[in-house]
Amino acid sequence: MANIKSDPRKPSLDSDTPVYSPTARRYHWWTVAFVAAMFPLGKAMDYRGNHLNIWDNTTNALYSLHKILGILLLALIIVRLAYRLKNGAPPDEPTLEPWQKLASHLTHWGLYGLLIAMPLLGWLGVSLYGARDIFGLFSLPPLAAQNQEAAKLVFMLHGAGAGLLFVAIGAHVGAALYHHVIRKDGVLRRMLPGIGTRKS
Ligand code: HEM
Ligand code: HEM
Repeated sequence: MANIKSDPRKPSLDSDTPVYSPTARRYHWWTVAFVAAMFPLGKAMDYRGNHLNIWDNTTNALYSLHKILGILLLALIIVRLAYRLKNGAPPDEPTLEPWQKLASHLTHWGLYGLLIAMPLLGWLGVSLYGARDIFGLFSLPPLAAQNQEAAKLVFMLHGAGAGLLFVAIGAHVGAALYHHVIRKDGVLRRMLPGIGTRKS
């Protein structure tokens, strides 16, 4: 059970509102950092390679970095999801309307689903294509035998998944800012780093 401590000098929002545990918050912000790197890397390598047709060391390094960070992100999400399923989350912010609770739960589980599906599709794609090499140092284990036609389809799904993830993150961040700036409730503060150790 988490350490429950309330500071009487702080406003009631701090002392009464349950927040995500420090561990859950650390996982959340590490996820944000990884995903923030994956999008520009994916777009830059795709542009250099597939659009400008430049297949030099820089393009290869961008691909390798995208692959290895994506696999590390997959490991992070698996650990994070296991922690979430075991420990749960704090009860919903009490002032939320029922539809807002439903929308936030759907978005959160949708984000978890996409964060698992995206790296798996990428890994499957490079297995089918035959491009599992990382910086010439090692190769990812294959998830399937080579098949160029199937690789094309999987990369198409990977690209579509990236678009979906981008939209879901946009809605999620927009909602967090709406709560903080317009509704001025405690939703964003539940997930901010450095807000104490309380968790329910
Ligand atoms: C959450 C994790 C990931 C995100 C957000 C992500 C995102 C992206 C994005 C935005 C693109 C460019 C798509 C386009 O513009 O059409 C891309 C392409 C690509 N990704 Fe990922 N990716 C992830 C994980 C992975 C992993 C783990 C691998 C491989 C191990 C991978 C391999 C690739 C490859 C090979 C391409 C180029 C596909 C092509 O040439 O058509 N990705 N990714
Ligand atoms: C890559 C971008 C992001 C991803 C993938 C992501 C993912 C998630 C997920 C999966 C949850 C659910 C946590 C759980 O209950 O287990 C969550 C919660 C949350 N996120 Fe994010 N997030 C991202 C960016 C952000 C940003 C930039 C902000 C702030 C501006 C933010 C604010 C929040 C807040 C406040 C919660 C808790 C909401 C609540 O209490 O109901 N997130 N996020």
